[in-house]
Amino acid sequence: MNRFTFHNPTRLHFGKGTLNHLSEELPQYGNKVLLVYGGGSIKRNSLYDQVIGKLNELGVQVYELSGVEPNPRLTTVQQGIDLCKQENIDFILAVGGGSVIDCVKAISIGVYYEGDVWDIITHKATGKKALPFGTVLTLAATGSEMNTNSVITNWETKEKYGWGSPLVYPKFSILDPVNTFTVPKDQTIYGIVDIMSHIFEQYFNHTGNTPVQDGFCESLLRTVIAAAPALVDNLDNYELRETVLYSGTIALNGMLSMGMAGDWATHNIEHAVSAVYDIPHGGGLAILFPNWMEHVLDSGVDRFKQFAVNVFGIDPAGKSDRDVALAGIHALRSFWSGIGAQSRLADYDISDDQLDVMTEKAMVYGPFGHFQRLERDDVLAIYRKSL
Ligand code: NZQ
Ligand code: ZN
Repeated sequence: MNRFTFHNPTRLHFGKGTLNHLSEELPQYGNKVLLVYGGGSIKRNSLYDQVIGKLNELGVQVYELSGVEPNPRLTTVQQGIDLCKQENIDFILAVGGGSVIDCVKAISIGVYYEGDVWDIITHKATGKKALPFGTVLTLAATGSEMNTNSVITNWETKEKYGWGSPLVYPKFSILDPVNTFTVPKDQTIYGIVDIMSHIFEQYFNHTGNTPVQDGFCESLLRTVIAAAPALVDNLDNYELRETVLYSGTIALNGMLSMGMAGDWATHNIEHAVSAVYDIPHGGGLAILFPNWMEHVLDSGVDRFKQFAVNVFGIDPAGKSDRDVALAGIHALRSFWSGIGAQSRLADYDISDDQLDVMTEKAMVYGPFGHFQRLERDDVLAIYRKSL
């Protein structure tokens, strides 16, 4: 294991009826609340009315920023920053999926940054202070509800970058599985793929002596794999939504990666695709991850064999280690296709005409990935394999 310090200050309220915790959480932060949400799902499923009801009970002044895009855009972040400054907002409440929460993180740090918030997103500057915010999560996927990450798209320049700061841990997050019942089938699938991908990004490492972490990752993967097919056929099953929602938070709140360095190459490669084509993050990962795995397999056949045996139950008898490893990757492909995820970039009408552009974007900070350092040619090869 590597040396590590772990600290996650986000207060998590998980389970049915936990929206009631707004009543004890909000009064700590002031009277002017900016409610931020997406394109309207919370209005259609009545969560908006419930939240407004609570805010009215508390007697706070409510301002609204709606229309946060999936793959949230810099222009919307800027709108939020302007609104916070203009109205002297005390606290932001994000109600939505990862996009809404990521947008709020950028608003919260941008309010106190004198320059352009894009400087922070592109790692040219670090914020010194952030406006406090909380979240009501409506979609199991990103883990943004309990981490410091945020991913923002500059649609004018077709750039999408992740950034993070310990200043943007949510003060609290409210996770009621009932609020995820209305997530449509496709977004449910993307969420499942994203959660599994977050576990992969951490599991595929060369740190050594991480049996506890390995066990956590493998158990979480087996759990999601067992729940996912049933969930996509029973979108309003409480127990299945509960299992996947909890898995999503644990997968990316720092619990799995204590003492080890994750890879994160495939996320970088995917962000370059969705920067150019605005496709769903999970949809892109389902296509790219198995191809990354095959590309880097020889950098750690043992780890891929362990994955195949412990996660997909591949029988190693009579097979070479490499064949067992390949069978695990094949099982992952079949599993994702089986629940309805895309398997080729062509499924999103993406051909080879922007491969160089995407590769340049992925390489903007130089070679990347810890399991195997990827150079330009590696990235291009993974894109080509994914067409
Ligand atoms: O906008 P609304 O109308 O709310 O609809 C959303 C959106 O269209 C809908 N939705 C959300 N909750 C719903 C619902 N529809 C019905 N009922 C509900 N309860 O789902 C659509 C997708 O929402 P979005 O927030 O975009 O999805 P997700 O949570 O997957 O977030 C994706 C974004 O997060 C970034 C991705 O790159 C992408 O930009 N990521 C953020 C990470 C982080 N902060 O740690 C890590 C991830 O790896 C990821 O990169
Ligand atoms: Zn992700």
